[in-house]
Amino acid sequence: MSPARVPDELLLAFRGTAIVTGANVGVGEQIALALAGSAQRVVLACRSLDKAEAARHRILTVHPRACVEVEALDLSALDSVRAFVKRWRERGDSRVDLLCCNAGAILVEKACTEDGFELNYQANALGHFLLSILMLPFLVNAPSPRITYTSSGVAFSGVLDPQSAETPGPWSGLTGIRDAYQAYSNSKLYQCLSAEELRRRLARSPRHRHISISLAHPGFVYSQFTQRALPVPQCVVALVNTVTWMFGRSPEQGSRSVLWAALSPSIDPARPFYADSRPSTLPPFCEDDRIRVDAFEMMLRECRAELAL
Ligand SMILES: NC(=O)c1ccc[n+]([C@@H]2O[C@H](COP(=O)([O-])OP(=O)(O)OC[C@H]3O[C@@H](n4cnc5c(N)ncnc54)[C@H](OP(=O)(O)O)[C@@H]3O)[C@@H](O)[C@H]2O)c1
Repeated sequence: MSPARVPDELLLAFRGTAIVTGANVGVGEQIALALAGSAQRVVLACRSLDKAEAARHRILTVHPRACVEVEALDLSALDSVRAFVKRWRERGDSRVDLLCCNAGAILVEKACTEDGFELNYQANALGHFLLSILMLPFLVNAPSPRITYTSSGVAFSGVLDPQSAETPGPWSGLTGIRDAYQAYSNSKLYQCLSAEELRRRLARSPRHRHISISLAHPGFVYSQFTQRALPVPQCVVALVNTVTWMFGRSPEQGSRSVLWAALSPSIDPARPFYADSRPSTLPPFCEDDRIRVDAFEMMLRECRAELAL
């Protein structure tokens, strides 16, 4: 069953500046395409400028008068995140209405990033965490700003494994594709934990409490996501692609829950996780104060960031 579409009134009501990460393809491109119809500006924040430019042209074909820009952002490199924010500051853009942290991948290589972290963890969780923290000075200037994370249902099967997240390779985690999926699930769990703790800290700050936070599971989507994930023979890849094409959602359908999370007029703090276009609860670990705060503080340390609210 397809999730419900966001009504046109909600889409058209969005008039601000949106930044969408991983917007060159798949779910992210569909999010950007939907927002471009009414937004003052949509920024495609992507690690490949060529791919981002191609997506920009596709979006402009549908919305010729839209303001769509591209910016370089590699979430698996903390320097790239910092450089993105520095450029944003330098161009004098003081306000961001929507930060859509969508980019993500299951990375099956047993890889350690240049910053010394497991690749799934950094690309999916830590990079967006730093981006969110550093973009707060711009979000705070919008009347009803929001950070929305494209999460996954697998966050509910994530396990707490700070050791594998923090320890540089060669690390013990991945011994095969099953472990790659576990590392991916863990990264999405850490994304939920940090998002929920950030929400609670913002809610306690008189200056920041108008910034809302939401997450969404796009569903099982036929995109490049599964094609990238498989270190298996081409015939198996073709079979999996056929199955996902037959039974999965289109990227447009996958974008619907994310758009609900991004554009719903208000977010219920007890049900900020949208799946099938409906609000729902976060993974149970997010309710545990010690686990959530420990994860948040660990991630602040890893990024060498501070959160002064
Ligand atoms: N597809 C599914 O079934 C499914 C299910 C649950 C959740 N999700 C989540 O949905 C989101 C979008 O996935 P999708 O299905 O649209 O996949 P996709 O078509 O593979 O798109 C993923 C996007 O993320 C970007 N990306 C990956 N690693 C990055 C990095 N280190 N830095 C910057 N950008 C990076 C990719 O850029 P490049 O093109 O340059 O690689 C691409 O733009 C992801 O967060 C994913 O975890 C997907």
